[in-house]
Amino acid sequence: METLIIDGKKISQDIKDELKAEVEDLKKKGIEPGLAVILVGNNPASKVYVSNKKKACEYIGIRSFSYELPEETSEEELLKLIKDLNQTKEVHGILVQLPLPKHIDENKILLSIDPSKDVDCFHPYNVGMISIGELNGFLPCTPAGIIELIKRSQIEIEGKKCVVVGRSNIVGKPVANLLLRNNGTVTICHSRTKNLKEICKEADILVAAIGKANFITADMVKDGAVLIDVGINRLENGKLCGDIDFENCKDKAMAITPVPGGVGPMTIAMLMKNCVKAAIM
Ligand code: GUN
Repeated sequence: METLIIDGKKISQDIKDELKAEVEDLKKKGIEPGLAVILVGNNPASKVYVSNKKKACEYIGIRSFSYELPEETSEEELLKLIKDLNQTKEVHGILVQLPLPKHIDENKILLSIDPSKDVDCFHPYNVGMISIGELNGFLPCTPAGIIELIKRSQIEIEGKKCVVVGRSNIVGKPVANLLLRNNGTVTICHSRTKNLKEICKEADILVAAIGKANFITADMVKDGAVLIDVGINRLENGKLCGDIDFENCKDKAMAITPVPGGVGPMTIAMLMKNCVKAAIM
């Protein structure tokens, strides 16, 4: 059978269109979802992400409040801004783009966001809720986007052997949690894992979130596996590529996400979903 190339661009567009309709209805009831987006410093990648998040808000009809602060902003100033936004009624979601400049303690900042406005789902309260199986709160954006890609491709997670390569707080750990919540049997691998190849080769669903170009090669993949690539790596020739060697793995896979156009566009769509949720919670 031909490999399914999972179209994240199309699926994320579907989600944004569903949200746009939902927001139109909410506005008729006098509810206008609002998102505060905070960027500190001049990280070029962060600037692109933040601009895309604001564009998505505009498309869906979410009001965005933009705070672009200089690199020298102190931790106290940032904490003060978040404290104000926590108390601003029109702001339902608060997003602090990471990474922050080195002189600011990231954990302290994430802890200061009111958990009911934590649309990134980075606050330990929300991380904890995910881990005890609470289904009603925010879902972490990239991991939830991955689950959505799998489900909207009519792929079953229940009972499947799921292998996550990578253990970051933003992707590896939370996606493992969501797969578990969907009744997958989950193994998390990382840089110290022994027999990585053998473990990957057993995966029905393999999620690669390592940050190394073409790290997952065809000899690590089981025939008929579902391959989810979270990596975004820039090659010397300027091209983007994922953590999975797409060209050599795709014929073995039952389904695979491309880079770009796979998991990437889903993160913002799921962020928007959390913003709408925040406004009605
Ligand atoms: N930096 C990299 N990914 C993310 C994300 O999903 N949210 C925020 N706020 N910063 C990030």
